[in-house]
Amino acid sequence: MRDLLNRPLRSLRLSVTDRCNLRCRYCMPEAHYEWLPRENLLSFEELTAVVDAAAGLGADRVRLTGGEPLLRRDLPALLRRLAAVEGLRDLALTTNGLLLADLAAPLAAAGLRRITVSLDTLSPERYRALTGRDALPRVLAGLEAAAAAGFAELKLNTVVLAGQNDDELPSIVAFAKEIGAEPRFIEYMDVGGATSWTPGAVVSREGILRRLEAAFGPVEALAKTSAPAQRHRLLDGTVVGVIASTTDPFCARCDRARLTADGVLFTCLYARSGIPLRDALRRGEDPAALLRAAWSRRTDRGAEERLRLGRSRLPLAPASALREDPHLEMHTRGG
Ligand code: GTP
Ligand code: 5AD
Ligand code: SF4
Repeated sequence: MRDLLNRPLRSLRLSVTDRCNLRCRYCMPEAHYEWLPRENLLSFEELTAVVDAAAGLGADRVRLTGGEPLLRRDLPALLRRLAAVEGLRDLALTTNGLLLADLAAPLAAAGLRRITVSLDTLSPERYRALTGRDALPRVLAGLEAAAAAGFAELKLNTVVLAGQNDDELPSIVAFAKEIGAEPRFIEYMDVGGATSWTPGAVVSREGILRRLEAAFGPVEALAKTSAPAQRHRLLDGTVVGVIASTTDPFCARCDRARLTADGVLFTCLYARSGIPLRDALRRGEDPAALLRAAWSRRTDRGAEERLRLGRSRLPLAPASALREDPHLEMHTRGG
């Protein structure tokens, strides 16, 4: 199954809750949020039916996101169901790690293969300033549990913010190595709750590589894939991912769809609107037919369109638009 730009659907990102227990400055800077009504959340049965349909159409990767996915009650039970879906070869999850100390082992036992933990700084004070909570020790305990739980892959996600954490890249690389994780540095994106985004706050891939080269010597770029991260190798063999969604988008290769916790399908992270699936699913419509119809109309190249705006680029949505339509939020549509 191909979209109108000949891209297959390979990867489905399921946001299992819009709630979060952090307030990262670049994602959830507001004092108050309107949460999706609980009765609107897709049940585990409904989520599994959508994944099953996507797998039948050729998608073989699922990543659970949020908000913070570990806030969804009974998450290992959902993973057990998804692990049994025929045709899926990859089950992954992106978390802020706060609840991971208790959940890493049950998640691994339930069939989760890969886990990515967001970690923007190793300084407890900066962590508190960036996320609103004094929770770095909990995240570190979560990472320790994840490293011990035997996942096939453990990654760290660091959003690089000019003047805030861009001096920490070498220490994050060293820390990742210590715990057996792959570090990934992410350009600050102008999406969702990033209402104070400015071009000047972005550290580009070039800037990220310059900082790595200053600390570690020449960096070798490895081949690009359909994943947002381009991997790079340091002289000692350490592999570091760089996600340049802001300055060098991967739209041409983008094979992902995302589903919000209340069942709205987005065929692009930057899309202004999505396709509401929940009511159709609850009326008994075939999820495969719904997905096929959505994908067959897809022309999105959101990040590329943003790039064309050049220096006049402003955040995608102002705070007032986010209040009116929470589906524009990154924590609703899954980062
Ligand atoms: P794998 O490729 O499975 O390792 O995961 P991932 O890198 O897609 O997942 P993760 O949740 O760790 O996301 C990392 C960064 O990539 C985040 O900052 C995302 O916002 C960004 N990203 C993820 N999906 C998209 C997308 O569809 N479009 C764009 N432009 N950026 C994305
Ligand atoms: N720019 C880049 N990455 C972001 N994330 C959340 N908001 C942004 C943004 N504005 C990241 C989180 C998490 C991933 C899912 O998305 O830090 O690692
Ligand atoms: Fe931070 Fe992720 Fe929560 Fe957003 S959803 S506030 S990026 S932890």
